[in-house]
Amino acid sequence: MSAMIVFTATSSKRQKLDFMGCCCSRTTRPLTHCSKPIASSTALVSDPPFDSYPVPCELFVIRIKKISTQNKIYWYGTKDYDYWEKRGVPHEKPLPFFGNAFRVFTQKVSPSQGGVEIYRKYPNERFFGSFFGTMKVLTILDPELIKTILVTDFVYFHKRGLNPHETVIEPMLKNLFFADGDLWRLLRQRMTPAFTTGKLKAMFPLIVERAVKVQDFADNAAKSGTAVDVRDLMARYTTDFIGACGFGINIDSLEDDESNFRKLGKRIFNFTYRDAFVLMLKEVFPNTFKNLNFLVSEIETTTMHLVQTVMKQRNYKPSSRNDVIDLLLALKEKGNLVGDSIDKFKPDGTPIQTEIELDDALMAAQVFVFFAAGFETSSSATSYTLHQLAFHPLEQKKVQDEIDEVLSIYNNKLCYDAIKEMKYLEMAFLESMRLFPSLGYLIRKCAKRYTIPGTNVTIDKGVTITIPVQALHMDEKYFEDPEKFIPERFSRDRIKDIKKYVYMPFGEGPRACIGERLGLMQSLAGLAALLYKFSVEPAPSSLKHPVSDPTSIITQNIKGGLPLYIKARA
Ligand code: HEM
Repeated sequence: MSAMIVFTATSSKRQKLDFMGCCCSRTTRPLTHCSKPIASSTALVSDPPFDSYPVPCELFVIRIKKISTQNKIYWYGTKDYDYWEKRGVPHEKPLPFFGNAFRVFTQKVSPSQGGVEIYRKYPNERFFGSFFGTMKVLTILDPELIKTILVTDFVYFHKRGLNPHETVIEPMLKNLFFADGDLWRLLRQRMTPAFTTGKLKAMFPLIVERAVKVQDFADNAAKSGTAVDVRDLMARYTTDFIGACGFGINIDSLEDDESNFRKLGKRIFNFTYRDAFVLMLKEVFPNTFKNLNFLVSEIETTTMHLVQTVMKQRNYKPSSRNDVIDLLLALKEKGNLVGDSIDKFKPDGTPIQTEIELDDALMAAQVFVFFAAGFETSSSATSYTLHQLAFHPLEQKKVQDEIDEVLSIYNNKLCYDAIKEMKYLEMAFLESMRLFPSLGYLIRKCAKRYTIPGTNVTIDKGVTITIPVQALHMDEKYFEDPEKFIPERFSRDRIKDIKKYVYMPFGEGPRACIGERLGLMQSLAGLAALLYKFSVEPAPSSLKHPVSDPTSIITQNIKGGLPLYIKARA
């Protein structure tokens, strides 16, 4: 069909044909040797014989070339589709270019929910293969094997592999979540001490300040008597928390939905068709599109501007705010990041030393990770907890009774130690993250050839590994009545019955969430502040089983938000 279009070529297009050859000689001599001009497409199609007519012959060559180009493209989009077949791995049948992710690329289903659908087809397998575009994916189902991959054999699976190109990485994606190899290792080593209990406690007054503001906002909502989207409410609380603890600035997203910072948060997680298209191009043609940035430029410039402004205000020295900028400035004072390489070795087998400068862009990327890894996760988990409590009034009452009791010991003031004592609140939060984990799957990339223990299946460097967290959390093999909200599953007596490497809302192994305790404490503080003064109830528009947003790509989100009534407690 596309070759036919060339038949009606204008003179300028015809110039290009000159180099394709003609029928006079069946060689590649210029077209001017041919006597008959191109008339119209219909004439050309209907006028045989083919080789008595100069131009069709030339077009035949074009067509062959086109077909061979199409073949090459087709070959490129399907060349590895026998990968799992050859290894005898149970697998899904792929579609050219899309693999098994057609519904993900067309935003009909999120990767997490797509993972649940496929998981159910393999109830008795330890793993299965599939293709995300042209990317080979091995999904691990067996908890023992999950442990082997995430922990025991971490040296083969230290990468997350989210950057389609190994060396050309856009500045904001050089953050701890997206970074791989030596950059990841040096950042993780240096940043881990920033998340100790002492540092968390020092940061806590900033968190409490934001949590208390949730009460003011909820008060207005309660007085208005209308349903409030608690997903939006908790996103604003988390945005304020990230502003205060991450960027070192006070923003009022709770009051001002149009603040630039709130807009930045919304844009980062608004996965548009443009983003889906860019992602597909980068996945399928990583080299060709290596310089095409996944993040739109406004995200990079706004983050850089904010971080540089705050650092300049502090004269590039830590202040006494104890926020993330302070932690990074303190790290910078210690000089470059230096340490053993994770994958480069001397001939004697010892790792070589690597060194990376912690410049402004690299620091901004780490602040950005607060947004990238902390924002959506916390706001999704807290709002989903409120949703569950609204539909489970008895459990909500238990949570509130506990908050009242604990706070009465602490002069009715939220603080780190008080939150630590709210065990039932924590259980309700953990159960909500079981039903709807913020990250529905974990991801790793195979760094060197690896034979799966107990099998003769060997996978190559570059194969993507996924752990289907959402599906595991909902498997009746591991959780009785998995659809039910039962916080008691996480009570001190029963938590030990949960099989290891099945419940993983914060991931597992050396690449598990570095902000787990911060995320947990900040989430519980927001929930405690709200539920101390208010109750939540389903509104007419609330869905008991809300629908997962198909456009969410890494973290999960709810389509249409989570509308609830907020009512002042009697
Ligand atoms: C309720 C809140 C949170 C949840 C549910 C959550 C969940 C997760 C999960 C599932 C991962 C991937 C782990 C893996 O692949 O094994 C992760 C990684 C990460 N999270 Fe969180 N997170 C939360 C809050 C935070 C916060 C507040 C921060 C801020 C610092 C943060 C920073 C990170 C980083 C930097 C990583 C990448 C770690 C690495 O690759 O070394 N998270 N998180």
